[in-house]
Amino acid sequence: MRLDRFLASLPSHNRQQVRLMLAQRRVRVDGQVVSDPLAEVREFNRVELDDQLLQAGRPARYLMLHKPTGCVSATQDPQHRTVLDLLPAALREDLHIAGRLDFNTTGLMILTNDGQWSRRLTQPATKLPKHYLVETEDEIGEHYVAKFLEGFYFAFEGLTTLPAQLDILGPRQARLAIVEGRYHQVKRMFGHFDNKVVGLHRESMGAIRLDPRLAPGEFRELTAEEVATV
Ligand code: URA
Repeated sequence: MRLDRFLASLPSHNRQQVRLMLAQRRVRVDGQVVSDPLAEVREFNRVELDDQLLQAGRPARYLMLHKPTGCVSATQDPQHRTVLDLLPAALREDLHIAGRLDFNTTGLMILTNDGQWSRRLTQPATKLPKHYLVETEDEIGEHYVAKFLEGFYFAFEGLTTLPAQLDILGPRQARLAIVEGRYHQVKRMFGHFDNKVVGLHRESMGAIRLDPRLAPGEFRELTAEEVATV
């Protein structure tokens, strides 16, 4: 939200008073004086007026997890363990998953409480590639490459997938870069050729790569540099 609107939404501050308090440099965001009425204020920021605390702000959290097989990408599930069960209880609150993975898919999973940031990471419009290592039951033909670039029509959604880059690494192994995250997208793409995906591992999302020091089931916080790439 814009800083001037945030301030004007508080009781007993009209717009004129807000303009004045900004011009008088009485407002601090995260400890810094801010006088720009258009500055962005989010739930994560601490906002103060003189000595008065207007909003405490809560910490933004960004985690990467090496998702193992056999766990559900959900915050709760009546039957199976979920990715959240892999985190200490104190860290779980408010987190959501940025880009789900299937039950047996492994690799990079990102969890955060920052909805704006996770939308940028996952929205097709931002075109951040997600890289997957794919193992298939049958041989991958050279002719697949052009079809992945051209796109697959998904009747259920009534859309054609955006161009995807397929690099064939071996007879039954490829690396795939996609910018969307449609339901079972990779499996459905290979399904077009009647070729079953038997192993799927997400290596990266945009510039964020799964840390090779993380064993399946382990997690760490993203660095400030990693967060800033999105
Ligand atoms: N595509 C799939 O089919 N499954 C995943 O887990 C991720 C992408």
